[in-house]
Amino acid sequence: WRLLPLLAVMTFMLTGCGDPTLSALKPKGPVASEQLFLMKLSLFIMIFVVIVVFAIYAYVLVRYRKRAGDNSIPKQVEGSHVLEIIWTVIPILLLLVLAVPTVSYTFKHSKNYNQDKDAVHVKVTAHQFWWQFEYPDLGIATAQELVIPKDKIIAFDVVSADVSHAFWVPSLGGKVDTNPGIRNTLYLQADEIATFQGRCTELCGASHALMNFTVTSKSQADFDAWVNKMKTPATVPATAQKGEELFKENCMSCHAVNASGPGVAPNLKGFADRDTLAGILEHTPENMALWIHNPQEQKPGNKMPAFGKEAGGKLDDGQINEIVKYLQTLK
Ligand code: CUA
Repeated sequence: WRLLPLLAVMTFMLTGCGDPTLSALKPKGPVASEQLFLMKLSLFIMIFVVIVVFAIYAYVLVRYRKRAGDNSIPKQVEGSHVLEIIWTVIPILLLLVLAVPTVSYTFKHSKNYNQDKDAVHVKVTAHQFWWQFEYPDLGIATAQELVIPKDKIIAFDVVSADVSHAFWVPSLGGKVDTNPGIRNTLYLQADEIATFQGRCTELCGASHALMNFTVTSKSQADFDAWVNKMKTPATVPATAQKGEELFKENCMSCHAVNASGPGVAPNLKGFADRDTLAGILEHTPENMALWIHNPQEQKPGNKMPAFGKEAGGKLDDGQINEIVKYLQTLK
């Protein structure tokens, strides 16, 4: 009973206080709901088995304990066909109860949605340590913050540009590995208009734990408006033209600012409208300057070189601030 408070704290940690947009226990789409059902089903079966086994164990301990003054040897049992059949058939039945829904869900979701005209196709490419999202049918691309229409099947092709990563959006379902040279598929759907957290769940290098992304679901109309915006080039005001020049000289060989681009570094089309910077920092001008100055300080091991003079780069603070001004016009 002394352990009761500890157990209570542990239960609390396991249930209540996590981010609700990063929880497989709070599904926000059909795939995640089915996965939660399977988790509960297997958990209940395990609890049932544990209770039955421990009940029999306790009964045998008490019923057949050694009594005072009784030194006789109990009846020896050499084998029992009835018992063997019972303890073979029961596990088979339990496995069937688990296997039937698991296999049926698996085949349901391996239907070839890539042929499905209604599905929205997204190619996910994992990089150390960021995510690229391309919409091949729409001719646009973005990074770190995926946008999807609500109530639609999203058919993902998942690949890696370097090492093994894994793509997981707990609220919507998954996860799936991204392995070099292999194309994996995954189907998710969101029932709600919301922003869900995503994580890389395969140890992939120094900044594995910082490889965060988000998935935002919108109504079909809002999604279409977003797609149109992504297809329209941003207008650069006169105040940001100096920054644009510097950006072209220093950043353009890796970062695209239109919807299609090299894909070596995160596509920055729509960057000004994003909520986070590099998936981990608040989207403020100060953090943008900090990042450009020395990205290794924020996300160790990423491929972007330092541009700040003190960090060995070639841009002074004034130049970096001009680039930041330009970045804020990338709508
Ligand atoms: Cu990418 Cu862990």
